[in-house]
Amino acid sequence: MSPPELRRGVVTIDGPAASGKSSTAEWVARELGFTHVDSGAFYRAVTAAVLRTGMPPGEWTPQLVLEAARIVSAALAGASMVPHLVGDPADAEIRNPQVTANVPRVARMPAVRAWVNAQVRQVATERPIVVDGRDMGTAVFPEADVKVYLVADPWERAKRRLMQHLRRLPTDAEIAAETDRLVHRDAADATQSVAARDAVLIDTTHLMQEEQVARIVALARAALGPA
Ligand code: DC
Repeated sequence: MSPPELRRGVVTIDGPAASGKSSTAEWVARELGFTHVDSGAFYRAVTAAVLRTGMPPGEWTPQLVLEAARIVSAALAGASMVPHLVGDPADAEIRNPQVTANVPRVARMPAVRAWVNAQVRQVATERPIVVDGRDMGTAVFPEADVKVYLVADPWERAKRRLMQHLRRLPTDAEIAAETDRLVHRDAADATQSVAARDAVLIDTTHLMQEEQVARIVALARAALGPA
């Protein structure tokens, strides 16, 4: 027997870079039959859009960035609402190192944050969502049904990220270098990335992904109950 349908809801999953938020959120969304939204992907898409203008990053103003963001739209891909650029999927482009290096500069602009937040809120008015990011449980959905904040030891996060990219066991030197990059990214994002007071903190350092998914799904089912 399939579990009873849940009423419409919002589940937020926040946490630092490489804490496994997006893959966890996508999996949780599939379990609940909700739509997944990776808010970081929208910050990345806006950054990719402004990079396409060819304007040097030092000259980016909020106005220029918002102008460039007009080519970004949201589209459904499987269980996820993802950003498109000029109507096309842009997953590879938004993950390239130039975007990763410049996205904190864009994400610091209040006008850009308001734009991304509006996109994400719009999705939530249409369907139940599992949304991941840095401030989803604080600034964007303070009224969310379930709030989770994922933490993990930086060394473990670096190792997981490298295993995903390299598809082999990384060396200690590689993990050390990646840990350094992650700690710098954490510092660049620190203002936005704060756990909500009512968030459930989950330390995933020693958890398998399916265990963290199961915990969040259980929290959601308990909070949302049958329709
Ligand atoms: O999670 P990520 O690495 O894809 O995020 C990309 C960037 O966007 C990163 O600099 C943090 C920022 N971000 C943010 O400021 N607020 C969010 N809700 C999500 C991401």
